[in-house]
Amino acid sequence: MFRPRRLRKNSAIRDMVRENHLSVKDFIYPVFVEEGEGIKKEIASMPGIFRYSLDQIDQELQEVVDLGIPSIMLFGIPKNKDAEGSESWNDEGIVQQAIKYIKNKFPQLYVIADVCFCEYTDHGHCGVIVNQDVDNDLTLTNLEKQSLSMAKAGADLLAPSGMMDGMIATMRDALDLNGHSNMPIMSYAVKYASAFYGPFRDAADSTPSFGDRRTYQMDPANRIEALKETALDVEEGADILMVKPALSYLDILRELKDLHDLPMAAYNVSGEYAMIKAAAEKGWIDGEKVMLEKLISMKRAGADIILTYHAKEAARLI
Ligand code: PBG
Repeated sequence: MFRPRRLRKNSAIRDMVRENHLSVKDFIYPVFVEEGEGIKKEIASMPGIFRYSLDQIDQELQEVVDLGIPSIMLFGIPKNKDAEGSESWNDEGIVQQAIKYIKNKFPQLYVIADVCFCEYTDHGHCGVIVNQDVDNDLTLTNLEKQSLSMAKAGADLLAPSGMMDGMIATMRDALDLNGHSNMPIMSYAVKYASAFYGPFRDAADSTPSFGDRRTYQMDPANRIEALKETALDVEEGADILMVKPALSYLDILRELKDLHDLPMAAYNVSGEYAMIKAAAEKGWIDGEKVMLEKLISMKRAGADIILTYHAKEAARLI
């Protein structure tokens, strides 16, 4: 009889035959920066995660560096929002300032800019509104401006999350024509219209004031469409592909990993974080163990990179 239990006898052998490993080097830690001064505000639905103004952010970033986390992803909360989200391409906007500040003060951090408009528009949608819907091509024009402004500020990588058609080709062209041909793009290639983003929208003040995002983000029921979205992004020149959210979409992650020879990222989103925090606070689950199990499941499904609000906690445990 073949007895698989032979290789589970004790931790020495289990360690030797373990197929996947979490490393702090896999993590990208999302950071919320808010315009203003003296701000360090915990997000109610994301215990342990704060919005910071730049004058308050050093301790947080020092911890990230000390824990060996290589990279952060910036989300900005501007003071002024308008219909087009024009603060997003202001060279002195909050994220541009943050990039310059962080690259100067913590040069070892790899700084990623999320490229989208929902944090900057007064209606909370991810682009320019025409007839009660986001206009794809007008949004692409603004996406060029935002991308170039983030690149000029010194971002190491750009991550467009708006799910506009043609966004990767548009950014690639704009970057190449303006001296940024070495700027990598991590595409939120497969981003579902998910209720798991709820806490993030509190964090970034980006809840749509009307309607929802189903005319641009994907239907959670669809798999073949994910293959198509990804094939387009690969063709348009994406350097890294992302699946978002992570947990309910590990099947998609695995499939894309098998299909493409690009690095894959999984975004362990705000609602996934909040659920663990809430259940652990009630004493219903062991929060740390569930977190690590969840993160390793993303590796097993094929993630090379994991964006997670748990990065600091996980770094302390692995
Ligand atoms: C912006 C953006 C969102 C997230 C990342 N970038 C929100 C959204 O699409 O509503 C969600 C992240 C999270 O829930 O952790 N487009």
